[in-house]
Amino acid sequence: MLQVEHLSYDVQEEGRQAEILSDVSFSVKDGEMLVITGPNGGGKSTLAKILMGINQPMSGRIVLNGTDITNMPIDERAKAGIGFAFQQPPRFKGMTVRRLLHLAAGRGLSEDECCDLLSSVGLCAVEYIDRDADATLSGGEMKRIEIATVLAKHHDICIFDEPEAGIDLWSFSMLIKRFEQIHKDKKESLILISHQERIIQMADRIMVISDGKVESVGETAAIMPQLFSGNEGVCACRQQKGGGLCGVE
Ligand SMILES: Nc1ncnc2c1ncn2[C@@H]1O[C@H](COP(=O)(O)OP(=O)(O)OP(=O)(O)O)[C@@H](O)[C@H]1O
Ligand SMILES: [Mg+2]
Repeated sequence: MLQVEHLSYDVQEEGRQAEILSDVSFSVKDGEMLVITGPNGGGKSTLAKILMGINQPMSGRIVLNGTDITNMPIDERAKAGIGFAFQQPPRFKGMTVRRLLHLAAGRGLSEDECCDLLSSVGLCAVEYIDRDADATLSGGEMKRIEIATVLAKHHDICIFDEPEAGIDLWSFSMLIKRFEQIHKDKKESLILISHQERIIQMADRIMVISDGKVESVGETAAIMPQLFSGNEGVCACRQQKGGGLCGVE
């Protein structure tokens, strides 16, 4: 179980303190899928980076399975059971996709295991396994490889920041199936940050973050209608910050 209590995060902007997250509290139960959505610039990726230990909060507490991990460095959080896929994955010059998968798994993987992982994100191992995971890969290819690195190992909780971004329709369907399987197995909790209706509707619970605050959080059946009120599948949370969240406020 993940418990997040009263997180706040500020940055220095033009010599003054700007608040990015304020008093963010929520929890994720074992095996639960929480989807975080909300307007661009609301603070979702910042929150994900704080959970992974990339950013350090000004105040608040993060507790994973009863252990306070607030001050734990990134590598220890990974060992404690958190997996993370960035909204914009980093590139690794001079490192092959195969090596990246081995490192992510924390052990040597067989050819078949690498192939299965790449197939699960719609990539053909023959074409990609010996390529460098660098800037020569397209955005969608790198995004899918990064997702495969998170899937390479069991985590107690996996955080995927906009897994749909830049991914084609065919690979997206495969990815959805993979998330559904993880969710069904209940062996890992999932935090999916997304604007995509198909992802949002899979959630057990939805949390809307807007302007650095938890705008609403609740069961999917209760929050969904507020998000998609008459916009034919276009999430109201995509509206401009300050434009208000349709029906959520
Ligand atoms: N280091 C920083 N310095 C200044 N502003 C920052 C910094 N990091 C984040 N921000 C600002 O904090 C806000 C939240 O950013 P964040 O990336 O968390 O938003 P988001 O909810 O993930 O948005 P999106 O849906 O576009 O991915 C934005 O307005 C962003 O410009
Ligand atoms: Mg983001």
